[in-house]
Amino acid sequence: QNHLLGIEPLAPDEITTILDLAETYVDLNRGPEKHAQALKGLTQINMFFENSTRTQASFEIAGLRLGADVMNMAMQASSIKKGETLIDTALTLNAMHPDLLVVRHPHSGAVNLLAEKVNAAVLNAGDGRHEHPTQALLDALTIRRAKGRLHRLTVAICGDIAHSRVARSNIWLLGKMESRIRLVGPPTLIPSGAADWGVEVHHDMAQGLAGADVVMMLRLQRERMDGGFIPSEREYYHRYGLDAAKLGHAAPDAIVMHPGPMNRGVEIDGTIADDINRSVIQEQVEMGVAVRMAAMDLLARHRREMAA
Ligand code: CP
Repeated sequence: QNHLLGIEPLAPDEITTILDLAETYVDLNRGPEKHAQALKGLTQINMFFENSTRTQASFEIAGLRLGADVMNMAMQASSIKKGETLIDTALTLNAMHPDLLVVRHPHSGAVNLLAEKVNAAVLNAGDGRHEHPTQALLDALTIRRAKGRLHRLTVAICGDIAHSRVARSNIWLLGKMESRIRLVGPPTLIPSGAADWGVEVHHDMAQGLAGADVVMMLRLQRERMDGGFIPSEREYYHRYGLDAAKLGHAAPDAIVMHPGPMNRGVEIDGTIADDINRSVIQEQVEMGVAVRMAAMDLLARHRREMAA
């Protein structure tokens, strides 16, 4: 692949290749010497048009640990504010010969459009409600390490599916790896066509979580609700917030996941999120660095092969 724009175009063996390489970077990151040279001499530019803590920090750390020259564009201070378009901004940066562009944008499809205009390898760091591929890859690595496999697991993805690029990328990835997927949430937050995606749809947490191996909670993404239905937090927590009673319906060894940022007391009880026997939320963050190192390493290798 020239770019990493989504999980949809990836074959299962390509996903496995990324996860296997990421495993080696988990070991590197835990060691005393965290540097490798896979991106030495390359320039990585991070362009985040939406807020981020985990994704931006981990892409920056990943690039630095692999020896890249990393620049974080301060988009709020860029000429976008003077009316320059996304494409003109991309063409301007392209003229400086970056090798890797990491892009987050509020509009679905914007990152794919940008990738058509530049010579760099583009990594999608989240576009609108479309895809967040490195999040799904880090989730998969976390699940594989906890459960030993990805196939024939029952994964309940719970909450605001309708506005979630994390849900879409996970549905693609887990489906390709032959996990069973359940979407659980209120009818207003699950797209009406979801039943055609090869998933089960549940509106009741007890049914949706019954026997699940993995419980993945999602945030209410108010920034993408466009003035539509916004549930009251108290009512939402009562029916869909993950607490000990609801988690009791899942398998006894079920793991709890959340991509972050997390709203405690809205979609998840704080004690569940902090329970190191069930929650792998901090491990997800750790895997994020390793997966982004692997993704950029593989794209750089592909570029070298194409150039040879
Ligand atoms: N999971 C995730 O994308 O988090 P950030 O918005 O903090 O990057």
